[in-house]
This record gives sequence, C-alpha cells and structure tokens, in this order.
Amino acid sequence: MTSTRTQRFGAIALAAAAALAFTPAQAGEVEVLHWWTSGGEAKAAAALKITLQKGGHRWKDFAVAGGGGDSAMTVLKSRVVSGNAPSAAQIKGPSIQEWAQEGVLANIDDVAKAEKWDELLPKVVSDIMKYKGSYVAAPVNVHRVNWLWANPEAFKKAGAKLPTSWDEFFVAAEALKKAGIVPIAHGGQNWQDFTTFESVALGVGGAEFYKKALVQLDGATITGPTMTKVLETFKKVKGYTDKNAPGRDWNLATAMVIKGEAGMQLMGDWAKGEFVAAGKTPGTDFVCVAAPGTAKAFTFNVDSFAMFKLKDAANIAAQKDLAKEIMAPAFQELFNLYKGSIPVRLNMKMDKFDDCAKASAKDFVDTAKAGTLVPSIAHGMAVPSAVEGAIKDTVSQFWNDDKMSVADAQGKLAAAARTK
Ligand code: GAL
Repeated sequence: MTSTRTQRFGAIALAAAAALAFTPAQAGEVEVLHWWTSGGEAKAAAALKITLQKGGHRWKDFAVAGGGGDSAMTVLKSRVVSGNAPSAAQIKGPSIQEWAQEGVLANIDDVAKAEKWDELLPKVVSDIMKYKGSYVAAPVNVHRVNWLWANPEAFKKAGAKLPTSWDEFFVAAEALKKAGIVPIAHGGQNWQDFTTFESVALGVGGAEFYKKALVQLDGATITGPTMTKVLETFKKVKGYTDKNAPGRDWNLATAMVIKGEAGMQLMGDWAKGEFVAAGKTPGTDFVCVAAPGTAKAFTFNVDSFAMFKLKDAANIAAQKDLAKEIMAPAFQELFNLYKGSIPVRLNMKMDKFDDCAKASAKDFVDTAKAGTLVPSIAHGMAVPSAVEGAIKDTVSQFWNDDKMSVADAQGKLAAAARTK
C-alpha cells in the first residue's frame, strides 16, 4: 500500500472505530489518581485510559510518581481536604475503610449488583472493596508480592543455583558476589525495605507467624525468638546489596537484573511488567520463583480504585462506567498482561498469560484453601495506615542503622504495632 493509501485507510479505520465507539447519553470526565509511571505500569495505565475513552468519556490523568504510592497518598489527602477530590483514586486495603469513614466515597452498589461482583470476586477481595456492606471501590488485579526475580545468565556465570530456602539464598548470593555481580538489586525506600522484610518474615517464620506478628500485631510474637531470626536474616540480606541502593527506585533495581548487573530482586510481580516492557521473555531472559521458603504461601496485594463522591451528573455516569469496565473480562486481561499481575475476576481464561502468572493464579486459589494466603503489609493490605507507617519506619531504621541491635528493633517494632 502506498503511504497516501495507508493514511487514508488509517483515517477510515479511525472514523469507523469512532462511529462504533459507544456514545453514552452523557459523556463525562474521569480524573484518575494513580502512581503507575514506570515502563510496565505506564502501559497498564494506558490500557485503563483507552478502556474509559472507548465509552466516549474523557480521561484526566492524575499521575503522582513514586513506587508504592506514598507520594500519591500525600497529594490525595491535600486534594480531598481542599474539597477537590478526583473521581477515582488508587487506594487499597484498610485505607479504603478509612476514606469511607470520612464520608467522601461514593456508593457504587448499583454497578456492582448489575455486574454481579459478589459472584465474580473472591470474598477476601470483595470484603476489602466494601464499606458497611456497600461497594465503594473497584478492584483491578491481584499482585503477588513474595516473588524472587532472577537473571539466569548471571546465575550461570556465577555457577549458582536458584534458591528455595534462605540458606540457599545466601549461598547463591556469595557466588554472585564472587563473580562480580551485585547479588540483590535493592532500592532503599521504606516500602521496598518492607517488601523484602515481609518476604523474609514469611519465609523464615511461615504463614502462621506472619499473621500473628504482622497482621494481628501480637506483642509476644513480635518480641519472640522467631522474629529475632527474621530480623537477623533480613539484615544479612543487606550485606548483598550495593552501595548505591539507598533511595533507588524499584524499577531501576529491576533494570539491574534485566541487564545482568544484579542477579536477583525481591519484588512483587509489577517487576514482571518491567521485564516484559523491556522485551524480555519469562523463563528464558528472566525467571520468577517464590521468595525463599515461601513457595506454599502467597502475599497478596490488590490494586483498586476507590470512587469519590461527585456532583456533576455526567461525571458520575462516567465514573460508574469506569467501575463497570474495570471488572469486564477484556480489561482484566489486557491490563494484567501489562501489569504483571493476574485478573481479580474469577474464572478468567489464562491462556494468554505466562507461566509466572499461571503459577500465581493457581497458588492464589491453593493458598486460600490452605490458609497461607496472607495480606501484604508493605502494600497497604493488612493493617491501618498509621500502624503500617510506624512499622515500616522501624524496619527501615533497623535496615539502615548498623548499630541498632535486633533486640532493640524488636522492642521498637512492638511499640510501633501499638500505634493508634
Ligand atoms: C504497589 C502497587 C503496584 C505497583 C507498585 C510499585 O503498591 O500495588 O501496582 O505499582 O506499588 O509502584
């Protein structure tokens, strides 16, 4: 086809697509707060935008960079306080309840009922999306946090074996170090420190310990001998990070594994979004294995959009359309292929997904049955935000201060767990 013909063909296709696009009774605008700015995340966010625009509505991007979303949450608070809330914001876990208690979230039960969300969502997820029995948020995915990402080339060079226990992890780390490769790519930000910490806690202590210490916040468990071992192991991991780790963004740490400068990264499967966005193939260019000692457990992190109360009727209609589309099979597939996560909607076909996602989908169901499906603290799924902030700060202080003893850290953690 000549270039003019191609252009004409393109214009016709676009016009046809526009004509086919659903034109709602009232086109509205949806302002969406998120923190998806890395390579893989941005592709996933674009899928959300296109999905909304297909419905004839306008997308207003409200991206606040910063992995884990701490900066986004700070900006959100000031916007809501000044009476200028966005339509939807990426808010997760118990924070959804906290925002709903403020009276600022919209009830989207009409959408949820019409679309049968109660039947389509695992109960552990629908409970989080509801406040006093009504839906106020729509979930997009399930991320698994307890993953270890590795570069097989780097492992080959070092003659190392993929670890399944923490003892094996340190053997592999030593071998990588000797081969001149950074054993573990890390970014010293408190949510990343805690992402590592919770995988160590789950691997060393097991799911029951994890729940007792970090979800139920039981003081005796926090100050007990298993936590001592967890903190010792956690600190040992630091010895295998590089001197430039402080402050590094998580996606730059993933890039080190992509390039083979580092051998491993402990990170949730949004890291897979980065590998894939860089054109890498799972199983060949990179591998995913459960974080050491955690193969039979699953730390979940569900991304969701809480809906804020709005006044404009067209914008309310657009907001409801967004909620509806988020849970539709087409979006669930497209978004999660980019994001590295798995669909949150039950009984979705997984044929387009890679082996890491297929393993995640199977393990999500199996661990729920076995009682080893646990919420991520680092990613806001487990405890009130004030407690989360306090225990994250303590863990990062311990990580950064080589003079702080393990006993001291346990005392401080127990105090942080009592935060009201
Ligand atoms: C998590 C979020 C993920 C991912 C990650 C890094 O808290 O749930 O979707 O974006 O932060 O930014």
